[in-house]
Amino acid sequence: MTPTFYELLDYAARWVHVIAGIMWVGNSMLFNWLDRTLAPPSRPEDGLQGESWLLHSGGFYFVEKTQLVGQPLPRTLHWFKWQAYTTWISGAVLLVAVYYAGGRAALADPTVAALSHGAAVAIGISAIVLGVGLYEAVQRAVGPRAPAAATTILVVAFVVMVYALTHLLSGRAAFLHVGAMLASIMAGNVAMTIIPSQRDLVKSVAGEGRADPAIAARAKRVSINNNYITFPVIALMVSAHFPSVYSHRWSWLLLLVIVATGAAVRHLMNVRFTTPWWRSALVGTVAASAVVLYALMAMGVPAATSAAAANVPSVVTFAEARHVIDRRCAACHSLQPADSSFGAAPSGVAFDLPAQIQLHAPRIRERAVVTRTMPPANKTHITEQERAILGRWIAQGAMVP
Ligand code: HEC
Repeated sequence: MTPTFYELLDYAARWVHVIAGIMWVGNSMLFNWLDRTLAPPSRPEDGLQGESWLLHSGGFYFVEKTQLVGQPLPRTLHWFKWQAYTTWISGAVLLVAVYYAGGRAALADPTVAALSHGAAVAIGISAIVLGVGLYEAVQRAVGPRAPAAATTILVVAFVVMVYALTHLLSGRAAFLHVGAMLASIMAGNVAMTIIPSQRDLVKSVAGEGRADPAIAARAKRVSINNNYITFPVIALMVSAHFPSVYSHRWSWLLLLVIVATGAAVRHLMNVRFTTPWWRSALVGTVAASAVVLYALMAMGVPAATSAAAANVPSVVTFAEARHVIDRRCAACHSLQPADSSFGAAPSGVAFDLPAQIQLHAPRIRERAVVTRTMPPANKTHITEQERAILGRWIAQGAMVP
């Protein structure tokens, strides 16, 4: 398969993934909101649990929640499951197109761990399978009897998994795989618990046996889990744009702070109808998290290349900087790239002309000198001294003759 094939597959799968994900999350947030804002039913005698008036798309909608006790099953009943499955399937295609087969982003990174691509693929897939398997086992075996113990086991296992992945895979791939594992747990909850429980409910309403309270209780528990996992997963899925976060040497800690913040924000949104101070708590949570993230990121900047910098001339000319760019960056960052796995001029950045190099000087510093996230997984073997050369040329004003 050619790089163009994978680029288009990536594009198509991403498009589907975002649309399906919006539909899945959007539906679940609407139903969550409905459940929390239902007014007491005006006709309680019919087994109604609550009702709500909505205004949308030029009309009034009247929604009633009912257990349908002693009433026939409606002829048309809308289920909500394909949004979840489509999100998961397109996400799996994306993992293959971007990381496993398409080589569109680095999976193994020799500066993190010396792994072959095959070993890194095996680790990525096993992490997802293991995560889903462990979650299912714990929530089925321990959850019903000791919910607090189940949560503790899962949180500890999650921290271990985050630590392991961020020390085995490239930063970006590690964040993505933690997100994919959580999202697979969510999709698994839909497929293996929530939908079976709804089937059970429908059967009992149709008079084909009694609803099993155990599966209903499990569905309730995993729905709450999904509710809390949603925001962290989205934060992890968009993390690919933030190299200073995912490539930080304490990336595992940053990831945990981000996940905790996501869950906390979701919690405050859940309780906002019954908690008058939710707004100040929300602002406080987000601000505290931003301060913690900023402090961690500022403290953990890799010790500058001081040793390497000692060997760099005190005045660096453009010719010297350009020599480094030509050797280590231009293979990809060109309109005619020698390494076309990422397509021409990735992120629209080309270093063919002096003016282009000068234009991108601040980002060159950020990616190649400070965060060291370029070249990806150091594919072109840039040395510390060469990074220092780029850093000094930019510090001295990024002059071009
Ligand atoms: C193996 C191919 C490859 C090489 C070599 C490479 N890059 Fe990149 N670069 C990419 C890809 C892919 C992206 C887009 C993904 C990303 O931002 O991580 C990118 C994005 C960028 C961006 C734009 C994104 C931003 O954060 O502003 C800059 C700047 C950049 N690279 C600088 C460099 C520098 C400097 C070098 C050489 C030291 C280099 N790159 C070497 C593939 C490469």
